[in-house]
Amino acid sequence: MADGDHWVTVARRTALGAGEVLGVEAEGKPIALYNVDGAIYASDNLCTHAFAHLSDGWLDGDVIECPLHAGRFEVKTGKGLGPPIPGDIKTYPVRVVGDDIQVQVSG
Ligand code: FES
Repeated sequence: MADGDHWVTVARRTALGAGEVLGVEAEGKPIALYNVDGAIYASDNLCTHAFAHLSDGWLDGDVIECPLHAGRFEVKTGKGLGPPIPGDIKTYPVRVVGDDIQVQVSG
């Protein structure tokens, strides 16, 4: 298997409706999954500002708003959209295989 070709099944596709965000774990790493108009994206689930799970926040289009201090990130790129957040979140490759959502957290 080539480097970066390691996919981890983290959820059923049917568990994530359009406009929803779901917190999962991939190899011990907290990951947030987002459904933006039927396309799935994945990022770190922890905010870069303080200890908050983005999966407890609100998905507005392709922007997730942190539940604690309303920091906002673009879920497709992980880009932070301004104060109070100090930095971007990491995003991960996602694919859907049958009814499984798979992410690539290593490589
Ligand atoms: Fe996310 Fe403060 S913990 S904005």
